Amino acid sequence: MSRGASAGIDRRDADLARVAGAFRRTVYAHYQTERRDLPWRRTTDPYAILVSELMLQQTQVERVLHHYQPFLDAFPTTARLAAAPLAEVLSSWSGLGYNRRAVALQRAADLVERDHGGRIPRDRDDLLRLPGVGPATSGAVLAFAFGVPVVFVETNIRRACLAELTARSLLPAAAEDQPIRDALLVPLLERALDRDDPRNWYYALMDYGAALGRAARRRGAAANPNLASADYRRQSRFAGSARQLRGAIVRALVESGAAATAGELWRVCRGVAPATTRARAARVIDQLHDEGLLERVPHSRPLLYQLPRDRQLRRMIQL
Ligand code: ADE
Repeated sequence: MSRGASAGIDRRDADLARVAGAFRRTVYAHYQTERRDLPWRRTTDPYAILVSELMLQQTQVERVLHHYQPFLDAFPTTARLAAAPLAEVLSSWSGLGYNRRAVALQRAADLVERDHGGRIPRDRDDLLRLPGVGPATSGAVLAFAFGVPVVFVETNIRRACLAELTARSLLPAAAEDQPIRDALLVPLLERALDRDDPRNWYYALMDYGAALGRAARRRGAAANPNLASADYRRQSRFAGSARQLRGAIVRALVESGAAATAGELWRVCRGVAPATTRARAARVIDQLHDEGLLERVPHSRPLLYQLPRDRQLRRMIQL
């Protein structure tokens, strides 16, 4: 390698170290005054943290706050969760939406019991083999439960990095018309990571990203730094969403304990979102059926839908 090239790499490295250092100071300064005291941050129990992270995957913190402790009270260990009837798990989950996550969490508890002696694994590959656990959730469990200094990206972390890189005009020129991949954020995250205290570092970084999100919402959606990202998925509006309708259907069936016709389930949908058409309700019912969360009562006329019985569901769902 020529001296010139190596000097270039050294300079870029020094620049990155400087930017990462300043970023870390900004994030920690914000944390000193604005830290959020959230219940899942008062524990290092890996199971409780796994539960909170699955809940937080596509759901706002405020909504998760209402469900986290009651869920843990109902299912305090992987053994208790694995052994519970699915209807009870879904009932505790109802209101969070995306019920598939509840099914995945119960299957994960089952695998932890079967393959890991009831202990949530500390290994990233083992975590990634659990249903419902992707790169962000595995990273969060490692950092928050075990204090492992790993790099991971979730929505608030992404927003914080993109805002910092944008403010310093450090995004590649292509970014204006070409979205940024999360991989581009990794060098900054690797340098900024507080290896002595990954837990507090990620709490601080998430709080900073969340505050930037609130500020962006006040200024209008176009101000959201995550819009530059190729990997960002906007959370759909809840009212009238498929998520709301799915939740309403599952809740109605859990509460009634009986089967229902498509027409009755349509009425349930209109109860929470009056503009729901019959065709839309039918699509949501089909989706739930395809995912194995609803089954058709054999030979029923008119056709009745019910929640699947546990063992059947476990065989049917390939998560
Ligand atoms: N604290 C720990 N995990 C979190 C998350 N995923 N979102 C917000 N705050 C958190």
